[in-house]
Amino acid sequence: AITRHYTFDIRVQNVTRLCHTKSIVTVNGKFPGPPIYAREGDRVVIKVVNHVQNNVSIHWHGIRQLQSQWADGPAYVTQCPIQTGQSYVYNFTLVGQRGTLLWHAHFSWLRATLYGPIIILPKPNVSYPFGKPYKEIPILFGEWWNTDTEAIINQALQTGGGPNVSDAYTMNGLPGPLYNCSEKETFKLKVKTRKTYLFRLINAALNDELFFSIANHSLTIVEADALYVKPFNINILVLAPGQTTNVLLKTKPHHPNARFLMAARPYFTGMGSIDNTTTAGILEYLTPSSNTNFLQSHHPLIKPTLPAINDTSYVANFSSKFRSLANAQYPVRVPKNVDKSFFFTVGLGSNPCPKNQTCQGPNGTKFSASVNNISFTLPNTAILQSYLFKKSNGVYTTDFPSTPLIKFNYTGTPPNNTMVMNGTKVVVLPFNTSVEVILQGTSILGVESHPLHLHGYNFFVVGQGFGNFDPKKDPDKYNLVDPVERNTVGVPSGGWVAIRFFADNPGVWFMHCHFEVHLSWGLKMVWIVLDGKLPNQKLPPPPADLPKC
Ligand code: C2O
Repeated sequence: AITRHYTFDIRVQNVTRLCHTKSIVTVNGKFPGPPIYAREGDRVVIKVVNHVQNNVSIHWHGIRQLQSQWADGPAYVTQCPIQTGQSYVYNFTLVGQRGTLLWHAHFSWLRATLYGPIIILPKPNVSYPFGKPYKEIPILFGEWWNTDTEAIINQALQTGGGPNVSDAYTMNGLPGPLYNCSEKETFKLKVKTRKTYLFRLINAALNDELFFSIANHSLTIVEADALYVKPFNINILVLAPGQTTNVLLKTKPHHPNARFLMAARPYFTGMGSIDNTTTAGILEYLTPSSNTNFLQSHHPLIKPTLPAINDTSYVANFSSKFRSLANAQYPVRVPKNVDKSFFFTVGLGSNPCPKNQTCQGPNGTKFSASVNNISFTLPNTAILQSYLFKKSNGVYTTDFPSTPLIKFNYTGTPPNNTMVMNGTKVVVLPFNTSVEVILQGTSILGVESHPLHLHGYNFFVVGQGFGNFDPKKDPDKYNLVDPVERNTVGVPSGGWVAIRFFADNPGVWFMHCHFEVHLSWGLKMVWIVLDGKLPNQKLPPPPADLPKC
């Protein structure tokens, strides 16, 4: 194992898309940001230097951060943001993970432009269980706004309405040929015949789950959230924001005399408007004889078929196909017995509309979002520091409810009371508790899905279903043998998922909806996992350069 050093200079850069030039916040002037490459077992040291007027912090999404919680990154949870002119060194070791993850800003909505891939290769001399691909291609999905991102945040936060829809989705930062004024900004991939390509797919969009498909090619899913899965073939993938998936593409045996569109567009069942456009890249075959780009543009362009925007049954069926690889080399440790079980309702709700404002929520209220009717408010100092220095007073309380404040029953029609309670409440867990959480979508204000992400952990998705979770019948159907293990799971719109994990990573861990708008509205909560007895089961002291609030 070696140490990999990176410097992330946060600076503004002019970027042009769809014929609009604007200055955006970037890492090292790049959009999307640079990749982090490492091997399992390596130490990664990233110095983040803030040269912009905004505060910033970076989160290494999906990295377990064992014994390195100070490097997790969510502002006001594990650290104060890095202020203008300041820097902070993120320092962590990659333990027990290999595959594709992503890094992104975790302050305000900066991750709109601050994101990039994390690629963890297996240890030296360890091969992939699915064989060696000819080439590996990272593909990041994102969103582009012609206007300033600050404006879209204010729209969502101050008026309490939905955010302005983006102007385009992007593949590797490029909208592609289906948008006006975007022909040149197309991701093109030239492939050879009879080869296996590994695509590392990353959904870094702010507020949208995406369908993805390549015309006339089927894909083999081999990995999800940096964990191997039992391979399966599929034509159309679904990726929630924060999710990553590795797929294999076997190219055709003969030059097809055609070009193929690789396209992504949203899956959405919520209310309000959404950008329902399509980002696309082009897959082109090099001619076998010369392996040069021969008359490509004369070849017809074939388009894939994507499901309807609200095709929930496709999405549910797709997510039910995932199984952990769970073989002798990569065994899984699924909690069979549960020490502590939680029932969390996740969904939208409302807050009173502040005076002198016009709010766009139901009956003139301001949109909010909650877990168990608690809309989580970030403090103005970091929870991890308050916890470690035993100064929780006035920062957070430990009375997060394990069942909803308002008894929940899914009927498909909205209840009378949609109000939420604001607070900074956390759940405290003894070290190594085996935890079950039922995440029940409420659909109180419209049927929406919620990609729930847990920091510092991977969890097993042991069950999923529609309507009300039934504690008498549903657990009988759990998969406790080879459930998929991930860090982000889509709570189905109008349904539930059951997750399990061992609380074996002490510290303060954020869990939230990975739709940026729902995160801002309060669909988030915090777990505090207490220290264990052994030295490696305790939180290490903070680094000297930890930012101050
Ligand atoms: Cu990728 Cu707290 O998020």
